[in-house]
Amino acid sequence: MPGDGIGPEVIACAAEVLRRVRPDVECTEAPVGGAALGAGLPALPVETRALCDRSDAILFGSVGLPQYDGLPLAQRPEYALFLLRRDYELYANLRPVRVFPGLEEASSLRPEIVRGLDLIVVRELTGGIYYGQPKEQRTVDGVDEAVDTMIYRAPEIERIARIAFDLARERRKHLTSVDKQNILETSRLWRRVVSTMSAEYPDVRLEHLLVDNAAMQLVARPGDFDVIVTENMFGDILSDEAAILTGSLGTLPSASIGAGGSPGRQFGLYEPIGGTAPDLAGKDVANPTAAILSAAMLLRHSLADDASAARIERAVDRAYADGLRTAEVARSGGAAVSTRAFTQGVLARL
Ligand code: IPM
Ligand code: MG
Repeated sequence: MPGDGIGPEVIACAAEVLRRVRPDVECTEAPVGGAALGAGLPALPVETRALCDRSDAILFGSVGLPQYDGLPLAQRPEYALFLLRRDYELYANLRPVRVFPGLEEASSLRPEIVRGLDLIVVRELTGGIYYGQPKEQRTVDGVDEAVDTMIYRAPEIERIARIAFDLARERRKHLTSVDKQNILETSRLWRRVVSTMSAEYPDVRLEHLLVDNAAMQLVARPGDFDVIVTENMFGDILSDEAAILTGSLGTLPSASIGAGGSPGRQFGLYEPIGGTAPDLAGKDVANPTAAILSAAMLLRHSLADDASAARIERAVDRAYADGLRTAEVARSGGAAVSTRAFTQGVLARL
């Protein structure tokens, strides 16, 4: 589902890489977001949803276009993502953040601060203020007002925390749980549930941070983070912050997984986290890395094919090690390659 902005270009690249490593995977394309709205369809057309029902996984570009700003959620491209996450119960959003060796210079932080950075944000994706009811604009006593509701039930916290604890156990055994417990009741529940669970994970070091402090620590000492688990909106904000530490939003993939699928075939949605970048669209300059690595995550999580995933990841690493750079990460004065040329570079290194 290519979607809007740079989505179609980068998804075409990712699909090509995917087909090259796994020619047996059947890929079907479907309209979503602004691309669907523009054709007079809803943001998530019925046929697109039916295709998802028949599929093992979704490779998703991005949705959102400036012309829809200001309209109610149900009339905006983003509504597609809102529905897909909710209806397929994709409650766990995994956003790995890595700095490619040689790309430290592209970061706005000093290279020695970001070198070797390797963390993962585990964002709760189907609860909290995104979905709580009531959620509306209304007029009371002649005054316009609006309400969003932040609500969490303990089992929702527990299932996302479990994914994060399990991940931490496989990694550097350090889990940072982010909340705002000095103000929010949902955060007090969050902290209590996560703390209680830590007894089951004595080998994992659990740390709690308030979200404002976490935002600061992420730029002050990013290398100290391993796994970060947090609620929906904090995760949305912190993951963009974490991503740009690497120098480009264009390099970061994501996986949204949850309850669906069968053993070894976990249903999931895989997307670059960088968004539609309308200013770059159609110019063959966008970085396809995030989309290509999202295809790798799809292979790993939904098709249980670690080998092909690793093959793609190695090819991308090599492309960077060999100096291939799209415009947004090229050194000033350094040569930049196009979206297509970068992808050719990855295909050649598979
Ligand atoms: C993201 C995006 C979405 C979100 C938007 C497009 C609705 O920012 O996936 O991070 O807020 O979750
Ligand atoms: Mg976001």
